[in-house]
Amino acid sequence: MKITKLNKRIFVLGGSGVIGSQICKDLSETGSKVFNIDIKFKKKKIKKIKNIFLDIGNVKKLEFGINKIIKLYGIPDVLINCSYPKTSDWGNSSFKNISLNNFQKNIDIHLNSFVWSAKIIANQMIKKEKGSIIFLSSIYGLVGQDLEIYKNTKMKENLTYAVIKGGLISLTKQMASYYGKYNIRINSISPGGIKEENHPSAFIKKYIAKVPLKRFCTSKDVSGATLFLASDLSSYITGTTLKVDGGWTAV
Ligand SMILES: NC(=O)c1ccc[n+]([C@@H]2O[C@H](COP(=O)([O-])OP(=O)(O)OC[C@H]3O[C@@H](n4cnc5c(N)ncnc54)[C@H](O)[C@@H]3O)[C@@H](O)[C@H]2O)c1
Repeated sequence: MKITKLNKRIFVLGGSGVIGSQICKDLSETGSKVFNIDIKFKKKKIKKIKNIFLDIGNVKKLEFGINKIIKLYGIPDVLINCSYPKTSDWGNSSFKNISLNNFQKNIDIHLNSFVWSAKIIANQMIKKEKGSIIFLSSIYGLVGQDLEIYKNTKMKENLTYAVIKGGLISLTKQMASYYGKYNIRINSISPGGIKEENHPSAFIKKYIAKVPLKRFCTSKDVSGATLFLASDLSSYITGTTLKVDGGWTAV
C-alpha cells in the first residue's frame, strides 16, 4: 500500500546514507517536509528535502544544535535516526583486537548520540502532545552474530555494534514507558543486512542461505517500515522493534 498523505514535519538524522537517503526520498513524496540532518550531503539535491549540517557525534553540543534547528524550522512530528557514526578504527571492533578507547568512543558517538538527541527532541514534542520517534537498530540488537557466515573471509564480529543496537532496543522500551502519557510513540526497526559491493562471495552465499526469504534486506524494505511507524496507521504501537529481516531471527 502506498501512503500518499503523511503531511508531517520529519527530521531524519543520517539521511544521506544508504538507508537514510531512501527514507528521505520516500517520505518527501508523502506531502511531508523532510529535513536531512547529517555531516555530508550528496551533490545531487532533491528539491523537497532540506539539508542541515549537524555533527550528532558531538554529544555535548547536541542540545544547542538541535534546539537551533527547532527554532528555525519547528518541532518535528517525526524523528528517524538512521545515522551511523563510527571512528576510523571501527573495523577493529572484534573481541580479539578492540581497544578500550575504540569501544568507549564508539559508544559515545553512536549510542549516546542516539539517546541524547531523542531525549532532547521528545522533550520538545511534549509541547505538541504528539510525536513518533524511530531508531534504526539491527538484528544484532536482538541476537548475537553467527560467526559461521564470516568463515573464509576477512570479516569479523563487532562487539560494540551489538552493545549499541541492543541498547537502542532497551531505550525504545524505556522511552515508550515515559513518553506514552504525552502521546509520543517510540519504536525501533531491526533490519537484516543490506548487500554491499565489497561483501565477499563466501559471506553472501552463507548469509542468503540462512534467511528464510533467501535474499538480503534492501533500503526500500526499511523505508516501508519507517513509513508505517511514522504514520497514524501505527497509532497504538509503541515500545516495539519491528524486525525487517526476511525471517533471520525467526529460525
Ligand atoms: N546497512 C545495513 O546493512 C544495516 C542493517 C541493519 C541496521 N543498520 C543501521 O541503519 C543505520 C543506517 O545504516 P546505513 O547502512 O544507511 O549507514 P550509512 O553509513 O550508509 O549512513 C549513515 C549516515 O550517517 C551519517 N553520519 C555518520 N556520522 C554522523 C555524525 N557524526 N553526525 C551526523 N550524521 C552522521 C553519515 O554521513 C551517513 O549519511 C545505522 O544505524 C545502522 O546501524 C544498517
